[in-house]
Amino acid sequence: EKSIYQKGLNYERPPFTFLSSNWESRASDVLSATSKGYLIGNAGTGETARKNTDAFKKWSIVPKRLLQTKGLPALQTTIFGEELQFPIAAAPVGVQRIFHPDGEEAAARAAAENSIPYILSTASSTSIEDVAKANGTGVRWFQLYWPDNEFSDITISMLNRAKKAGYTALVVTLDTYILGWRPSDMDNGYNPFLRSDQIGTAIGLTDQVFRRMFKEEHGVECEEKLSEAAATWARMIFPGQSHSWEDVKILQAHWDGPVILKGIQSVEDARMAAQIGVQGIVVSNHGGRQVDGGVSSLGVLPRIVDAVRACGGNDKIEILFDSGVRCGADIAKALALGADMVLVGRPYIYGLALGGQAGVGHILKSLLGELELTLHLAGISSVDKEHLNRDVLVKEAD
Ligand code: FNR
Repeated sequence: EKSIYQKGLNYERPPFTFLSSNWESRASDVLSATSKGYLIGNAGTGETARKNTDAFKKWSIVPKRLLQTKGLPALQTTIFGEELQFPIAAAPVGVQRIFHPDGEEAAARAAAENSIPYILSTASSTSIEDVAKANGTGVRWFQLYWPDNEFSDITISMLNRAKKAGYTALVVTLDTYILGWRPSDMDNGYNPFLRSDQIGTAIGLTDQVFRRMFKEEHGVECEEKLSEAAATWARMIFPGQSHSWEDVKILQAHWDGPVILKGIQSVEDARMAAQIGVQGIVVSNHGGRQVDGGVSSLGVLPRIVDAVRACGGNDKIEILFDSGVRCGADIAKALALGADMVLVGRPYIYGLALGGQAGVGHILKSLLGELELTLHLAGISSVDKEHLNRDVLVKEAD
């Protein structure tokens, strides 16, 4: 990560010279109206998305001096028993080929190259297996959009494929059994999940179980009815109704690695997750793309951390966090408030849109570089909880 800022120190320019404050607008310039609307758009008026980013400004880091700090801070961490170089991962983001022709493969390559776990979305525009190939020896996790129990064959088939392709953890997204009220997509008449050339041909049509089910129902191969197959697939992964806590057991039974519940915002749900014995949660509101008017994700993080840690007996549950992370200092604040790991969402997709694999790499390096310098200059020698905790923050008055 030093490579980015050392270039600056040597008066050299990095491959992309944009700053964190304008990644979004630079990416907007190169995207089609529909892709831009999908990436930047939020639910409703965007109130919750704004709250997500504003929430970071309510906390400030208090730098400490004359600590005889030697060397740069330690960024490595252990999560789900896996030793990682950095406490961040690439959040699951669907249909990445609409942002760059190399899509998920470019992002998965960049993640591996920078030692960052890549979380593949069920709504991927590239198959589970091809992304695994691109990711190589990198750490990869699979995010599940969870079909209705009626289609549990499809769920199990995806889990088996993911396991076989080396995805080590299962991230189950709970907040998107139907897409939120998203004015930009509605204005553009846009639903990427119904595009047969994107989602349909990726995981859906490469899934043998789906192919068999489709043929039974329609009497023809899915290629012969591409758009219908894509619509069927979209219906399966967005069933329109939520599962139950009891149903989580089905997933636990069919997955032998860590199960992580994504989309937790309430203390009660976090406690429940700890009780049923999943290995992790992602405190997330999907970047404010689902429930507008909902609370900010960072706002609920400390309460959830306290509740889960107070549960006792299950202190092994890992707390991941996303929604609104835009710079290195944001990562530091989320970790200080008790997150074990931070997922980066939109920023790496801005990099993908602007420069494919190199663009994603640049964003990841920039975020890590800024995190490293921020901690170093604040006198924080490690991302571990002993050094990076609430004592380094003050809450600004409202
Ligand atoms: C997402 N997110 C998401 N989450 C998920 O579990 N599966 C998915 O397929 C997607 N797809 C997706 C597409 C796009 C364009 C965006 C912006 C987001 C949500 C994502 O994982 C993460 O929770 C948010 O991106 C975090 O919010 P910010 O920080 O990006 O605003």
